[in-house]
Amino acid sequence: MYDLNGKVAIITGGASGMGRAASLLFAQAGANVVVADLNDSDGEDVVQLASGSGNEAVFQHTDVSAEPDIKALIECAMDTFGRLDIMFNNAGIGGAIGPLEDVSVQEWDRTQAVCLRGVFLGMKHAAAPMRAAGGGSIISTSSTGGLEGATGLFSYSAAKAAVAHLTKCAALEFARDRIRVNCIAPGGISTPILFGIAGNNKEEVESGLERLQPYPHVGQPQDIANAALFLASDAAAFITGHTLVVDGGATAGPRSAAPKTGRKRRSRFAGPSFERPE
Ligand SMILES: NC(=O)c1ccc[n+]([C@@H]2O[C@H](COP(=O)([O-])OP(=O)(O)OC[C@H]3O[C@@H](n4cnc5c(N)ncnc54)[C@H](O)[C@@H]3O)[C@@H](O)[C@H]2O)c1
Repeated sequence: MYDLNGKVAIITGGASGMGRAASLLFAQAGANVVVADLNDSDGEDVVQLASGSGNEAVFQHTDVSAEPDIKALIECAMDTFGRLDIMFNNAGIGGAIGPLEDVSVQEWDRTQAVCLRGVFLGMKHAAAPMRAAGGGSIISTSSTGGLEGATGLFSYSAAKAAVAHLTKCAALEFARDRIRVNCIAPGGISTPILFGIAGNNKEEVESGLERLQPYPHVGQPQDIANAALFLASDAAAFITGHTLVVDGGATAGPRSAAPKTGRKRRSRFAGPSFERPE
């Protein structure tokens, strides 16, 4: 377990899915946590669970796309805990889904506002308190949908690609201040964001997720929380500008290239092409 004792973390989208798992894990690792979300009731529940012996958690209602809300969020961390060490820009929505020609400008803009502007604002306003503290770790949630094309999720996919690029730019910008900037690109993870898209059917979503990547596992919020904890911790002290892919090998290559379970294979050697293999 990585140690976050004495550190203060903000986690946006902390009321559900990966943000919820990260809030609980960061608290378990000793951090004081500010859970930020639009969803007040689930956010307050997370705060109850994340407040334990030796650490505290508070909830701050936040729309990550609104600059005044992000300013208020940083102020909340500073007023409550006096410092900021970790900013996890994780809130997101699926946004505009459908044929590209049918996506409206309003839906496009709203998707960008939450998935990209929200990350920019988190970076922008977390930098000063982190600089004052002598350094920090900014982590954002991108997606494998931002590394590969995805039909239907055009606006989301473009925003997530931009998050990975913005991460590199910000890593350069803040390196001298010892502020590390990284992002995580999750593959398919079993969270409510997918249940919503697939008509609230968790079982259906999970059976699809199991077949999504070569590694035989249904991606869970905890898998992403573990990656975020590593990037937040001093164990990642020399890692910045990086996109950490957490996808069970889904983007390692086509799934069809992975050997099938139980199928016996023969080893061979392919030499110069003029020599015919035996
Ligand atoms: N689940 C997946 O398969 C998957 C894959 C790749 C990336 N992601 C990304 O992971 C992140 C976390 O999503 P999740 O899967 O845990 O889904 P989730 O829906 O469980 O959690 C997202 C949280 O963000 C909050 N949120 C949405 N809009 C907000 C706003 N404007 N301001 C503040 N909070 C807001 C929601 O209320 C929710 O609590 C998102 O950025 C998502 O795009 C998810």
